[in-house]
Amino acid sequence: MKVGIVGATGEVGRTMIKVLEESNLKVDGLRLFASKKSAGKKLKFKDKEYTIEEISENVMREKYDYLLFSAGGNVSRRYAPIAAEAGNVIIDNSSAFRMQENIPLVVPEINGEIIKNYKGIIANPNCSTIQMVLALSEIQKQIGIEEIFVSTYQAVSGAGNKGIQELLNQQNGINNTAHFPDIIMNNVIPQIGPILENGFTEEEMKMVNETRKIFNDDSISVYPTAVRVPVLYGHSESVVFRIKKDIPLETIKNLISATENVVYTEKLLTPLMVAGSNITYVSRLRKMGKNTFLIWIVADNVRVGAATNAVRILLKHLEMRD
Ligand SMILES: NC(=O)c1ccc[n+]([C@@H]2O[C@H](COP(=O)([O-])OP(=O)(O)OC[C@H]3O[C@@H](n4cnc5c(N)ncnc54)[C@H](OP(=O)(O)O)[C@@H]3O)[C@@H](O)[C@H]2O)c1
Repeated sequence: MKVGIVGATGEVGRTMIKVLEESNLKVDGLRLFASKKSAGKKLKFKDKEYTIEEISENVMREKYDYLLFSAGGNVSRRYAPIAAEAGNVIIDNSSAFRMQENIPLVVPEINGEIIKNYKGIIANPNCSTIQMVLALSEIQKQIGIEEIFVSTYQAVSGAGNKGIQELLNQQNGINNTAHFPDIIMNNVIPQIGPILENGFTEEEMKMVNETRKIFNDDSISVYPTAVRVPVLYGHSESVVFRIKKDIPLETIKNLISATENVVYTEKLLTPLMVAGSNITYVSRLRKMGKNTFLIWIVADNVRVGAATNAVRILLKHLEMRD
């Protein structure tokens, strides 16, 4: 199988390589792409070294079984349509195409069937959205959700290599703030991405719009506050959700436990505990009044929120191919 990874040197790209290694997929034609800066550098996949190539329109016109993009919106906008035109299947981690009507936005455990025999660009959702919709998906499917109130606690790796470096620099006494709007060390910052005209941030509106698209249900109201915290890996979320009928807490627990790739636990859960895992963890289930429940969700943002979901899309597409 010939697979290309665009943005292979980044946080998500390197993790895609690891997740592909961990899968049973037989990749015998791996190609790794990044910017000119990284061309010629080498990365390992299953004990073999691969040389990074500079991305170009020509290499995107070649035929691949799958192309995984994680090099930011501008690179995706420029190169993914060329690769799609050449007949390739592209799984794109950027936000460039997510809300385009003709582009499937996929969490395979929830709506993977929509990409059966599909060719072209498939969008991978936003990291905070993936773990939230995964945790709530059986409840949405079996009962129906009316409202979701969510506050996120997002790791610096969500902003890529540069985000991690900024926290590490600050811990080493260099107080630069090139990528976050304030000092992140010993702090929390209630703004991720630019603030839009409606007062919400871009990250928050992704959670509103992408949740509706993935669940194919525009009636769901999502009320998000996205917050950056000085954690390296693992996004946490405090979620309050209101469902369409009153059911016992135990039923909600069973629905969450029955969800593929989601684990419910009574244990205390922190991002440090889940970093490196492909599972979305849920704990602290509570009920307040009628129809209203509270949970705590934690998952590795670079895996569950990006690389693992992308590889799961690939595997699902492959499994359904006629
Ligand atoms: N980190 C997360 O948790 C997360 C979650 C979901 C989605 N995403 C999305 O995934 C994408 C990558 O994120 P990341 O965290 O991996 O970022 P990152 O660590 O900053 O890596 C960026 C990657 O893009 C490459 N790149 C940048 N400009 C390029 C250009 N002009 N041409 C070719 N390659 C270029 C970089 O190559 P060089 O090393 O050569 O510069 C590097 O491989 C973004 O769209 C991001 O929004 C990230």
